[in-house]
Amino acid sequence: MVSTALKQRTESLRKQIEEHNYHYYVEDSPLISDEAYDKLFQELLKLEDEYPELRSPLSPTQKVGGAPIDKFRKYKHAQPMLSLQNIYNEEESSVFYERWEETLGNKFSVLVEPKFDGLAIELVYENGGLVVAATRGDGETGEDVTENVKTIRSIPLHLRGDFPPLLEVRGEIILLKEDFEKLNQERAKAGETLFANPRNAAAGSIRQLDPRVAAQRKLDFFPHGVASVRGLKAKTQMDLLTSFRSWGLKTHTLYKVINSLPEIETFYKKVEGQRDSLDYEIDGIVLKLNSFKDQEELGFVSRSPRWAVAYKFKAQEGVTLLRDVVFQVGRTGVITPVAVLDPVWIGGVEVKRAGLHNEDQIRALGLKIGDSVVVKRAGDVIPDVVSVIEQKRSGREKTITFPKKCPACDSTIHRIEGEAAHRCPNIACPARLAEGLKHFCSKRAMNIEGLGDKWIDLLLENKLIRHFSSLYDLDKETVMTLERQGERSAQKLVDSIQKSKNTTLDRFIFALGIPLVGERTAELLAIHFGSLDKLLEASDEEFSQVEEVGPTVTEKIREFLDEARNRSEIDRLIKKGVNPKWEVAQGGHQGELKGQTFVITGTLPSLSRDEASQLIRENGGKITSSVSKNTDYVVVGEEAGSKLEKARTLGIKLLDEAGLRKLIKKSS
Ligand code: IVH
Repeated sequence: MVSTALKQRTESLRKQIEEHNYHYYVEDSPLISDEAYDKLFQELLKLEDEYPELRSPLSPTQKVGGAPIDKFRKYKHAQPMLSLQNIYNEEESSVFYERWEETLGNKFSVLVEPKFDGLAIELVYENGGLVVAATRGDGETGEDVTENVKTIRSIPLHLRGDFPPLLEVRGEIILLKEDFEKLNQERAKAGETLFANPRNAAAGSIRQLDPRVAAQRKLDFFPHGVASVRGLKAKTQMDLLTSFRSWGLKTHTLYKVINSLPEIETFYKKVEGQRDSLDYEIDGIVLKLNSFKDQEELGFVSRSPRWAVAYKFKAQEGVTLLRDVVFQVGRTGVITPVAVLDPVWIGGVEVKRAGLHNEDQIRALGLKIGDSVVVKRAGDVIPDVVSVIEQKRSGREKTITFPKKCPACDSTIHRIEGEAAHRCPNIACPARLAEGLKHFCSKRAMNIEGLGDKWIDLLLENKLIRHFSSLYDLDKETVMTLERQGERSAQKLVDSIQKSKNTTLDRFIFALGIPLVGERTAELLAIHFGSLDKLLEASDEEFSQVEEVGPTVTEKIREFLDEARNRSEIDRLIKKGVNPKWEVAQGGHQGELKGQTFVITGTLPSLSRDEASQLIRENGGKITSSVSKNTDYVVVGEEAGSKLEKARTLGIKLLDEAGLRKLIKKSS
């Protein structure tokens, strides 16, 4: 027999852990440290382990995944899970809207929100406890995936607050883009086939039989509706979202209630513009009559509601033929395979090339030349080949062989242990030099105005430069021998090369192109050492004392500095008069923004994003890209998106440009 005291302790631990789960995963603002949480969790695990009679199917320990199962049971939905009708343009949206006007006059409002691109799921809560989670299946009957769904952190096992005694929540299980990328990288390394997109990865995670695997997948959930429910107080979609939140379910903040047709188009464009910067995939927006009474009045037609519709974005994916794979050498020697495609239009852009990342990725995709492939665009980056359509194979496709020799200099390529990348080891490799030079001259590095990629290729082809430092030997007459160059523009180019000699230490360090040393690390190195000489003499120990510099970065810096050719190149640059200084920013490091973390979102009235970042950094502040509980300020400009919403939810201080300037003035 277990003592009452132990029973009570178990209950108290469960309550505490559930409370902390809610604050951590739903509110995104934990109340206790990870260590303190782990202690509670371990204590509960131990109790349940020692006393089986204390175990419970709704214990928070279920979040780590219970025992594997043989197969999923079927689950018949009390109300069928229907689908939405799709529309694709403004004309179709106005037809829909006018149909609503015909029935409801002009006294209705519409809730607009994203269409999440995930896996549809139903959660059944009885008396606040999660009893079933089921997939959509054919709409009538789905699969009981309760054990896997229980592992999703933002899905409470018990509802909070004033919940109805019976509640069937409908929503979407998603996998964050970042976690999808990580998952695929791991799968590529392990030689496993890749998931084509986060939706497939989410579905695959929920539809596998070991809940412990599902627990590791970092899935998330957004509720968007209800089916059977007893005692619901909400009268509108909007009330429902608020209620979800009060019951401890995580909701998104990208919704809006609108009252006119033009607002639909505005919302559609706004959300489409934010699409790439969201942490998760969406494929359109959903328009829903806000009032449940209006919804009832409109009813259903065959398998879809008349009160809601999906307004889809233009496809970001396309299918085309893989003609060839070429291998490019980057400035650090990494060899990247690039797909050469039959041109295809995707989302209004013509795509001819796509990234393939590395050999593991090619293997995991099972890719062959001549294959029909799915290509996907994401933001401004080069599109990716995401999957192969094997059914379209003719049998004449050719295997892709990764080269053994560098395509530019014929050196033997190495694959570094523990890395997916293959590298050309020759630091004098012409392809590496070309890429290195482009980086050296670029805006964020030495900022040599007018010396773009084409110029660099031309100078290299004509053997006018052999390394970074020979740039500073170029004179007007030499430049004028190239491609009918006028005297004026030749002089301008030479002037801007000379001008770049006066630079700052962080830019110079960044320009050298040390592997893994990006702008931020270069700046931290400059702050720490304050001069090039000190940096060149530093020991590994000293490097590892630099903020954010760990053993891997230290090793890369060491390798770079130990290479005699790199050292003599630095010497030559200094001899030619390159003079990296560290004064302005050094003062800044002691600035009062020290220790404060900033996120910038939207367009500021007079500062570019780079300028604003520099201003903050010069005053000792730190810039990060995403808003979290550790953010001190969010600097907000026009057209700010989800970051602003997140900042509001987390209660983080907001500043406009003027506010930022004031803060800096006050602190100096
Ligand atoms: S409302 C009658 N809202 O889209 C269905 N559905 O074809 C009412 N979906 O698989 C659904 N985001 O799971 C609704 N914000 C959203 C949604 C959404 C994604 C999914 C849904 C279903 C499909 C409908």
